[in-house]
Amino acid sequence: TNLNLQEIQDTLISVAHEAGRMMLAANPADIDTGTKLNSADIVTETDKAVEALVSSRLTAAYPTFAFVGEETYKPGLQITATPTFIVDPIDGTTNFVHGFPSACISLGLAVDRTPAVGVVYNPWQDTLYSATRGHGAFVTVGANWGLEAGKGRKTKLPLAKSPVPLTGLDRSLVSIEWGSQRDGVNYEVKTEVFKKLCATKENGGAMVHSLRSMGSAALNLCAVAAGQLDLYWEGGCWAWDVCAGWCILSEAGGIMASGNPGSWEPELDSRKYLAVRPAPSGQKEIVEEFWRVIGDGRME
Ligand code: IPD
Repeated sequence: TNLNLQEIQDTLISVAHEAGRMMLAANPADIDTGTKLNSADIVTETDKAVEALVSSRLTAAYPTFAFVGEETYKPGLQITATPTFIVDPIDGTTNFVHGFPSACISLGLAVDRTPAVGVVYNPWQDTLYSATRGHGAFVTVGANWGLEAGKGRKTKLPLAKSPVPLTGLDRSLVSIEWGSQRDGVNYEVKTEVFKKLCATKENGGAMVHSLRSMGSAALNLCAVAAGQLDLYWEGGCWAWDVCAGWCILSEAGGIMASGNPGSWEPELDSRKYLAVRPAPSGQKEIVEEFWRVIGDGRME
């Protein structure tokens, strides 16, 4: 298929701005909030309304494409080779509900089960990340009202850190997430790994510079793509959390390995990921170092 990825990206950007305005207009205090897996797995009326808007816009513009969205997903649904929009209407719902300004809309297109277009927009910080396969990754600051006022700027993702080689975990800022699973195998593996990452090494040094959680998989991936974080490790998130950010990461020069030791080519829906920032060297070595910290642990 001969797809015009740039045109699709432009459509996604305009949908992202429209959705962003909806999110800013919602008052989280007034939103009817429900839960899914458990009390930490929150969904709001705004998540559902934004997904309905996005799905109607994208289905009208690209009627032959498949659509997978977090709020309308049914267990068992498979992502096929067909061009598929993979959408999280609000990634970082917990932050959204608490008014913590780290949440976004994540709009991805997968072709042949591989991320081909990614748009991630945080309306609270008016920051838009975008990428299409083969055309690089960009960040636009002041994307919405800034641009309308003629003040926005569109620049290549700030890869200032990319000339800096990755020299090891002990010089790294590492992002991790609890996700909403608070028991089971993934909980056990995560607590063990988090504990090791916070520990002192035999030589008295620290294992990592520090740990962070943006509370949004998509924003974690964009921060890794921008070189603001060195690594991001998570198990338990979904294709809609990572599809758009993965495209941005790859186009910026970062890599995505599996969150379980062993695989350099994780599937889009494998739900276990380890992202590494762009760097002229050291990417493979730092993945292997992280995998050694995981040891025998394996997430589901
Ligand atoms: C969640 C966020 C969070 C991650 C979870 C995701 P949601 O998405 O990305 O950072 O830890 O695994 O499910 O529920 O806010 O769309």
